[in-house]
Amino acid sequence: MTVAAPKTAQIVPSLLAADLASLGARIRTALSAGVEWISVDVMDGHFVPNLSFGPDHVRMAKSLGVPIVDAHLMVSNPQQVSSWFIEAGADIVTVHLEACAEPRKILREIRRRGVKAGLAIKPRTPAQSLIEFLDELDLALIMTVEPGFGGAKFIDAMLPKIKTVRQAIVNRGVDCWLQVDGGINGVTAPAAAAAGADSLVAGSAVFAAQDMADAFKKLQDAIKVRGRK
Ligand code: DX5
Repeated sequence: MTVAAPKTAQIVPSLLAADLASLGARIRTALSAGVEWISVDVMDGHFVPNLSFGPDHVRMAKSLGVPIVDAHLMVSNPQQVSSWFIEAGADIVTVHLEACAEPRKILREIRRRGVKAGLAIKPRTPAQSLIEFLDELDLALIMTVEPGFGGAKFIDAMLPKIKTVRQAIVNRGVDCWLQVDGGINGVTAPAAAAAGADSLVAGSAVFAAQDMADAFKKLQDAIKVRGRK
């Protein structure tokens, strides 16, 4: 069985932590710093107790030349909302398993429309629930904080879950990113990468940093040196 080539671990800045008064400028700074992938956290005030971005933020990021924009849908009606983000030009649309009545149906529809499909689970949702859908995924997201806000503390208890899902990806030979999101910094990033994450969403640690380029480079170096080989 061919084992999917391990992907080069990447830090993915989350727009949630960017200064809203200068969103475009901060994205341009990120691009100059070498950022190629930005995550847009979408919150509906129902699935999570917060409201954030919409399809026009994805359009804006794409118009600024961001190569990969992933829309992380923390919404209760992903069937309807995912369509808006596909039309807005998202490269990856990630839905939450906890909000999907028919996960396979929505994941297949995202892929049918030429967009990469992601599935996310909250901290209390077991790894097995995500593993069941690996064959339908381009990206599996393990939340390492309770979704809804930036700046929360990384939940260390998620490390075994990352290892379990990484092992399942290897065993199945699927070509799927293993993404983590929440509380990623200079300490938790290498730990999460060593456990098997290869896409690490970082909001506060990058977009809220005084020197974004330096912060981004330090985090990328940290997951190269001490993360997965
Ligand atoms: C939670 C959000 C945050 C955000 C990253 O719903 O998804 O995890 O992207 O926030 P930081 O990096 O500040 O923890």
